[in-house]
Amino acid sequence: MIQIAIDGPSGAGKSTLAKILAAKLGFIYVDTGALYRSIGLYMETNGIDPKDSEAVVASLPKITLALEYHEGSQVVLLNGENVGERIRTPQISMYASAVSAIPAVRAFLLDTQRDIAAKNNVIMDGRDIGTVILPNADVKIFLVSSFETRARRRVKELLEKGIEASYEEVLADMIERDKNDSSRAVAPLVPAEDAVHLDNSELTLEGTVDAALAIIREKCAL
Ligand code: DC
Repeated sequence: MIQIAIDGPSGAGKSTLAKILAAKLGFIYVDTGALYRSIGLYMETNGIDPKDSEAVVASLPKITLALEYHEGSQVVLLNGENVGERIRTPQISMYASAVSAIPAVRAFLLDTQRDIAAKNNVIMDGRDIGTVILPNADVKIFLVSSFETRARRRVKELLEKGIEASYEEVLADMIERDKNDSSRAVAPLVPAEDAVHLDNSELTLEGTVDAALAIIREKCAL
């Protein structure tokens, strides 16, 4: 099986890039952020403070998460129910970031991520794919972009989904989430030593895809 890891901060365009690459290469796209978001959704629905690690850990045995693919798109089932777009709100972004700092939550999601990569050719995006989840991935890309570019893109993405958000709010959330994600003790957002850095601040989507394909083709015969 071939494993391609794409890590980087929120809003760098990982999921857009990974989806296009997966379609071009015929791989499965695994959005690991959706798993953390689904845990966040469970906490919000059940009135659990995502920063209260004891309460979050105590609720994990009540959670079953499953990944399915419907017409090529990933679907996350939280206790049997499709989470859909409910995991995409700014509130759930903060919940996901908070629960993702809890080591037991990361351990809880480890097998789900590794199992899918063991059975399929995957392009998996997240924060710790190249460092923790798939340390032997065939290709590791660390995708970065300026804060301004990332915030602008995220506002557009939210608007397209019918979610109102101001640029200032999104930018502030992004700075805070980056700080949380990079400074946490377990699996912080850091590039793997053997990751290839790709900065797309000045690139079009097409240019980013071409650059990523060049990196992939250099590392494996595809
Ligand atoms: O990629 P995203 O914005 O959907 O991720 C939501 C949150 O989940 C993000 O704040 C960090 C966390 N996350 C993580 O810690 N590790 C991953 N592999 C993916 C996401």
